[in-house]
Amino acid sequence: VNTQIQLQSPFVLVIFGATGDLARSKLFKALAALSSKGWLANFRVVAFGRRDFDDMSYRQFVFREALQGDSQSAVILEKISYVKGEFKDASSYRRLGDKLSSVDAKEFKKCSNKLFYLAVPPVHYEVIISELSLSGLTIPCGGDLGWTRVLLEKPFGSDLETAKRLDLLLAKHFKEEQIFRIDHYLAKESLQNILAFRFSNSIFEPLWSRKFVERVEINFFEERTVAGRGLFYDGLGALLDVGQNHLLAMLSLIAMKKPKDLSAGALHKERAKVLGRLKIFCGQEGVFRRAQYEGYRSESGVAPDSEAETFFTVAAAVLNLRWRNVPFLLSAGKALNESKVEIRIIFRKDDGRLNQNELIFKIRPSEGIAIKFFAKKPGLGSEEIEEKILSFNYDDDAGKNKASDAYEKVLYDAVLGDQTLFASTAEVSAAWKFIAKVRGHWKQAPLKTYKKGSRVEEI
Ligand code: BG6
Repeated sequence: VNTQIQLQSPFVLVIFGATGDLARSKLFKALAALSSKGWLANFRVVAFGRRDFDDMSYRQFVFREALQGDSQSAVILEKISYVKGEFKDASSYRRLGDKLSSVDAKEFKKCSNKLFYLAVPPVHYEVIISELSLSGLTIPCGGDLGWTRVLLEKPFGSDLETAKRLDLLLAKHFKEEQIFRIDHYLAKESLQNILAFRFSNSIFEPLWSRKFVERVEINFFEERTVAGRGLFYDGLGALLDVGQNHLLAMLSLIAMKKPKDLSAGALHKERAKVLGRLKIFCGQEGVFRRAQYEGYRSESGVAPDSEAETFFTVAAAVLNLRWRNVPFLLSAGKALNESKVEIRIIFRKDDGRLNQNELIFKIRPSEGIAIKFFAKKPGLGSEEIEEKILSFNYDDDAGKNKASDAYEKVLYDAVLGDQTLFASTAEVSAAWKFIAKVRGHWKQAPLKTYKKGSRVEEI
């Protein structure tokens, strides 16, 4: 019942970064999908940005740039309005407040809940959070069940210190249950499936340790370059863009212990515990790589002498009894020859045999699971063994079971107030501690270059 009440209560999604990459590529599409599936109906969007739009011209922008002219999604356009403003200007927040009051008075005829989405580069977080709070807009007004919430995109800070500062600032203005730290990988169907798979199939969990697993590879390969996001990306590099968050989120789900239940608290605790045990894997120095694609420095927004890596490989160790001596090899890169995100669990070979079983969680391009096994090649007199793949793809369950985009889940859970698939402070801190170790280790690894479209083995 509470779920229904929450979903039906009117709310306004306030987007900071109205013309940014995230709004264009993900948020409006996710909203349109949620709306067409009937999950969210009673909402409005107020976009806040520096560019010179009014409601009409902004809607045209959204239709063209975010919804790519899809007329079915266009039904959400009338719910969108625009406020032009500066992040550091109190009067802009007054205008935002006026707009929100007018939406409440004219459209909902009551005070609505507010979701403040910071879809901006992290350098703007501090000023937006402070100004929002000063403006009084963060005070809920929708009755007993009324709420205001703030959503922030990773990375949270740029190291442990800045992450702590951000947390202090957030804690000054919001209660923990109002803060949603997004790592959209946690919200992906295929990542949620890792735990379901591990804990619902009794044939796999007994294998889930150093006794049977030789190594784990987490690969995050993208064909896309950083074009269009140069300014944002150059401040981070691949390690902070996806390593500190998405790859470690995947690692935590593979390596964590079974939580005592599926509550947000229990999951956060076990994910954080594993991340807190991460160290550099000694004896794998050869695998550490750090590289930048040729032409990166001439991307718009990128410094001409940038040292940011667009590719890396890191070997991590989880220092507990279960995973001792099992390397977790994390690799990520842009401008590669293929787009593929996957986790490969590579099992030990049986004594003297060559065959090596693998379990693969596929995350992109298609979401699913594959198992590599070996079978006898058919034929009289043949004793040959050949490799076979058992495979399941979410897309094969045509239509109804198709995995929805992670941002739909992010928005849906934020409206419900469910923090399970968001990152907790403890996880973020543990991740930064590991990243500090990687950065320390990297001092010895020179930045190489690679050609766009390279295969990983060529780097
Ligand atoms: C984002 C990173 O968080 O995730 C991008 O900033 C990356 O660099 C993207 O391309 C990948 O997400 P998805 O959902 O497209 O796999």
